[in-house]
Amino acid sequence: MPADTLCPADFSQVRELAAGDMQRVDRLIGERLSSDVVLINQIANHIVGSGGKRLRPMLHLLAAGAAGYVGEQHIKLAAIIEFIHTSTLLHDDVVDDSDLRRGRKTANALWGNAASVLVGDFLYSRSFQLMVELDDMRIMRILADTTNTIAAGEVLQLLNIGNADVSEAAYLSVIERKTAVLFAAATELGGVLGQVPETQVAALRRYGMELGYAFQISDDLLDYVSDAGTLGKNIGEDLFEGKPTLPLIYAMEAVDAVQAERIRATVQHGGSEGLAPIVAMIRASDALERTRACAERHAQAAHEALATLPASPQRMALAQLADYSVQRDH
Ligand code: IPE
Ligand code: IPE
Ligand code: MG
Ligand code: MG
Repeated sequence: MPADTLCPADFSQVRELAAGDMQRVDRLIGERLSSDVVLINQIANHIVGSGGKRLRPMLHLLAAGAAGYVGEQHIKLAAIIEFIHTSTLLHDDVVDDSDLRRGRKTANALWGNAASVLVGDFLYSRSFQLMVELDDMRIMRILADTTNTIAAGEVLQLLNIGNADVSEAAYLSVIERKTAVLFAAATELGGVLGQVPETQVAALRRYGMELGYAFQISDDLLDYVSDAGTLGKNIGEDLFEGKPTLPLIYAMEAVDAVQAERIRATVQHGGSEGLAPIVAMIRASDALERTRACAERHAQAAHEALATLPASPQRMALAQLADYSVQRDH
């Protein structure tokens, strides 16, 4: 393991390094959340006020620091990135029919699907208003491409629901689009602000992309191994929905033909009936270990991408976040 590895509890150390800037980001988020439409304020405050790890804005702030940026734009960009993330969560919980997020009832559970989708759209478009204020075509292009790719990824994932033949490559294509590209944009934009050489901008993008893969693969693992109290989300939802994530793909490769057929039928039909024996089958196979190993390989690739950057406290923090993305418990 690299020398600058940390255990999950040490996420607080990284937080400290970005704490001053993060306070400013949170203040800006609060200021720019408001609308004269009461329901927008209620729903937006509900989801933003319930916390979240703020990992993506933190990655942006640290990447900007690692790129030597001194200025103000990173605060606004970090807020934009968290707005985009928040709107995808509002939409995702509708699509996944989830009723728990960040330890609270979801907006769709409290206010319904229509209100959640519309407030998600409000946050998306608010992020574009903030973006325009930056008046930088390169930044706008990166973020416009990113949000479009995320939307395509969510649709692609929808098409894969109930399909037990989704390959590992097809799964990776979904998670790159729905999750990793936003991490990649967050770190790339740090390099863009710092005006570092293009090789370093590309390295920061690669770092974010690999971390994003590791993060989503871990999320898909946690859906099988964690508990709602720790995660702040219901577990077992992916199997319930028939979502073919990496633990399921590996499990079907590991078990015998009869067991594989049972898993296949569960993916195709979803539902809660008889899920416990399927989960037990997955846990007894090597699928979860293989999933974790895959996440670790991506975290390692994220580490390697950082080598192109000059050493700095922020680079070390980014290295630590690569490890955190797979060691985390929520
Ligand atoms: C949840 O992201 C969506 C995924 C990409 C798995 P986070 O786990 O970063 O959610 P919050 O913001 O901390 O709640
Ligand atoms: C992440 O996928 C979706 C987004 C990128 C918004 P999940 O559906 O696994 O995320 P959670 O588990 O609901 O947070
Ligand atoms: Mg979901
Ligand atoms: Mg999940």
